[in-house]
Amino acid sequence: MNAIQSKVDLRGKSFLALKDFTEEEINYLIDLAAELKAKKKAGIPHKYLEGQNIALLFEKPSTRTRCAFTVACVDLGAHPEYLGKNDIQFGKKESVRDTAIVLGRMFDGIEFRGFSHKLVEELAQHAGVPVWNGLTDLFHPTQVLADFLTIKEQIGHLKGVKLVYVGDGRNNVANSLLIGGAKVGMDVRVCSPKSLFPSEEIVQIAQDAAALSNAKIKITDNIDEAVDGADVIYTDVWVSMGEEDKFEERIRLLLPYQVNMEMLYKTGNENVMFLHCLPSFHDLETTVGREIYEKFGLTAMEVTDEVFQSKHSFVFDEAENRMHTIKAVMVATNSNK
Ligand code: CP
Ligand code: NVA
Repeated sequence: MNAIQSKVDLRGKSFLALKDFTEEEINYLIDLAAELKAKKKAGIPHKYLEGQNIALLFEKPSTRTRCAFTVACVDLGAHPEYLGKNDIQFGKKESVRDTAIVLGRMFDGIEFRGFSHKLVEELAQHAGVPVWNGLTDLFHPTQVLADFLTIKEQIGHLKGVKLVYVGDGRNNVANSLLIGGAKVGMDVRVCSPKSLFPSEEIVQIAQDAAALSNAKIKITDNIDEAVDGADVIYTDVWVSMGEEDKFEERIRLLLPYQVNMEMLYKTGNENVMFLHCLPSFHDLETTVGREIYEKFGLTAMEVTDEVFQSKHSFVFDEAENRMHTIKAVMVATNSNK
């Protein structure tokens, strides 16, 4: 079936969090992304946003998300306009509401990456055009679409896949994976120290979604229990953007949760996949990585270089898939098609 002709209709809808989408809608976006990826690889033009203008708002730095939106816009025939943290007000000297209305008068869609999830909700409330969440402190939903496309490419399906997230269990990526996995019927396990467990509110949303999809949800600090039989081991940085004063505390808490070969062996699955949203501290090739080495003697943080470079690792497919999935979100929610 051609996903573009599916009965799912997301036209005009913002994409802020996976909790707002059904299992069918999430699967539709992943299938549409696969279709757009195939078109791109075959050199088939797909300018579904011809002549449109897209605003890309970034309060925080980004490589993948910014580039994915930019390339996706150009492939779709739209013009991307990047606005960084010193370019527009973000509520400082003009309210978020007024900014949203102004941008909505000029642009056909708005991407926002920043701190406050409330801010992206306010933008969406007033812009009158689709708003897409490129990461907030609470959620990173476009990331999870790319993760699921990567899993589907390797395993063939999502239902029942044993996905284990190990590390900071209450960050934006963990929250989105837990809810996204619950939506599509996975066996999702979040493994972290108790003090970094996801909030009760997030777990409740995931449990409600799991009741509809027959997903399984487990939150545990026990590594052996979490990784047993895993199809996918996923981790993220121990310190997210905006919490850079927390390295010492997180290293102390999370070192036992580092993804290493021993953890992959514990899964009992010789084909276990390793995923990471990136960027990652897996070697000493970064300034921060070297500072951490000098202070704490660690040559890697959340994942060893051995795992990162191994045949288990699909992190660069995953990074590429950010572009195809973001393209799908823009096409599906576009009001003018
Ligand atoms: N994974 C991800 O969002 O990467 P960037 O921070 O580079 O956009
Ligand atoms: N949790 C990370 C994800 C980066 C893509 C952060 O917010 O910094």
